[in-house]
Amino acid sequence: MHKMQLDTDRLVLRDFKATDWKEVHEYALDPEVVKFMIWGPNTVEETQYFVDMALDKQREKPRRAYEFAVTLKDGGKLIGAAGLRINPDEPLTADVGYCYNRKFWRQGYSTEACLRLLELGFGELGLHRIWATCDSENLGSAGVLLKCGMRQEGHFVQDKLIKGHWRDTLLFAILREEYERSL
Ligand SMILES: CC(C)(COP(=O)(O)OP(=O)(O)OC[C@H]1O[C@@H](n2cnc3c(N)ncnc32)[C@H](O)[C@@H]1OP(=O)(O)O)[C@@H](O)C(=O)NCCC(=O)NCCS
Repeated sequence: MHKMQLDTDRLVLRDFKATDWKEVHEYALDPEVVKFMIWGPNTVEETQYFVDMALDKQREKPRRAYEFAVTLKDGGKLIGAAGLRINPDEPLTADVGYCYNRKFWRQGYSTEACLRLLELGFGELGLHRIWATCDSENLGSAGVLLKCGMRQEGHFVQDKLIKGHWRDTLLFAILREEYERSL
């Protein structure tokens, strides 16, 4: 099977391999990392399942989900995951999502990887629109999306039950023409 790899200045976004679960688990069990996520903190089995699902999605034809391990170009350390998922009912649109090991926050890595996913989506995949959601209190994630040139389109009130609390969600998006103007 053809394994994908996307490069940036400091990162390599590559298809997952089965042994990656250990480095994913370093952050997937961290309560601070998963605070705004519907999942986690993970058990080993849950993290292995996540990696197994990513491997399954690599084999789909046509491919609809691009879930990448984000690794440092210098040394190869896996620092997080970032994905672009084609939406089944409107295949010219997709959403992006990501999650990183806390040791690597605030160094611009998430923005760098997300910009590469937009390049993949609007370039090679020819998409029209890419969107993302985050918790309204997740300043880090909103910061990444704004830095990538995405606009806030919506604020959903108490639409997600996360770790026992109803939470608000922000919707961000960018159209191909907006992306191209930003280059
Ligand atoms: C949210 C997350 C992906 C950000 O990753 P990151 O690599 O630290 O992001 P970047 O360094 O590219 O930050 C981009 C901008 O976002 C903002 N930002 C990032 N983290 C922030 C924080 N903790 N508080 C406030 N603003 C923050 C800043 O404006 C930052 O730019 P600056 O550093 O130049 O000021 C990371 O904190 C994470 O993995 N969190 C847990 C999982 C998660 O919430 N995923 C998103 C679910 S929607």
